[in-house]
Amino acid sequence: MSTAPRIRVLFDEDTIAKRNEALAQEIAAAKPENLLVVAVLKGSFMFAADLIRALHRSGLAPQVEFVHLSSYLDGTVSTGNVTILRDVESDVRGRDVLLVDDILESGRTVTFAKDLLMARGAKSVKTAVLLEKPGKRAVQIHPDYVGFTCPDVFVVGYGMDVAHSYRQLPFVGVVDHLDNSPDLFDKPGA
Ligand code: IMP
Ligand code: MG
Repeated sequence: MSTAPRIRVLFDEDTIAKRNEALAQEIAAAKPENLLVVAVLKGSFMFAADLIRALHRSGLAPQVEFVHLSSYLDGTVSTGNVTILRDVESDVRGRDVLLVDDILESGRTVTFAKDLLMARGAKSVKTAVLLEKPGKRAVQIHPDYVGFTCPDVFVVGYGMDVAHSYRQLPFVGVVDHLDNSPDLFDKPGA
C-alpha cells in the first residue's frame, strides 16, 4: 500500500509574493532599456508570470519570450547536458535581456542560456533566479537577482516538478520520503 507523499512548505505564497515585489523594484532601479524577459521553461513559468506582473507595477513594460531548455537529470542530479527544446522567436540583438529561471544549481542551464543570448548579440543579459542552491555550482556564474537561498534538498511547487507532478502548488516545498520513490526519477527535467 502506498501513501501519498507529504509536502513540507519551505517558502509560502505570501513570502514569495513579497520577495517578487522587492526583486522587481531592484530590477527596475537598474533602468533597463527595451527590456526583453526570457523565461526558461518549464520550471520558471509561475515565477516568471508573477515577476513580470511585479515588473509592470514597478513601472517597466518588458516584452516576454520563452526558451524551453532541458537539463537532463540522473535521478534528481543534473548530468550537465543542456539542449534547446524550443527557441526564442525574437531577435535579441541590442536588447537588455533578463533571463528568468527557477533554480540555479550547477549553473549549467543559466550559463548555457546566457552564453547563447550574448552570442546572438544581446546588449546585456542579467539573470534572475527564484532559488539558489549554494555549494552546488559546477560552472562560475553569479546571478544578478536571487529570490531565496535554498537548502540542499530537492524542491517542488511554484512551477517546479518531480516526474511532472507538483508544478501547480502555489508554494515551494519539499517532498518527504523522495528517496524512497525511485519510480519518480529517471526523466528529463526542465
Ligand atoms: P542547473 O544544475 O543549475 O543547470 O539546474 C538545472 C535545472 O534543474 C533547474 O533549472 C531546475 O529546472 C532543475 N532543478 C535543479 N534542482 C531542482 C530541484 O530541487 N527541484 C526541481 N528542479 C530542480
Ligand atoms: Mg529549469
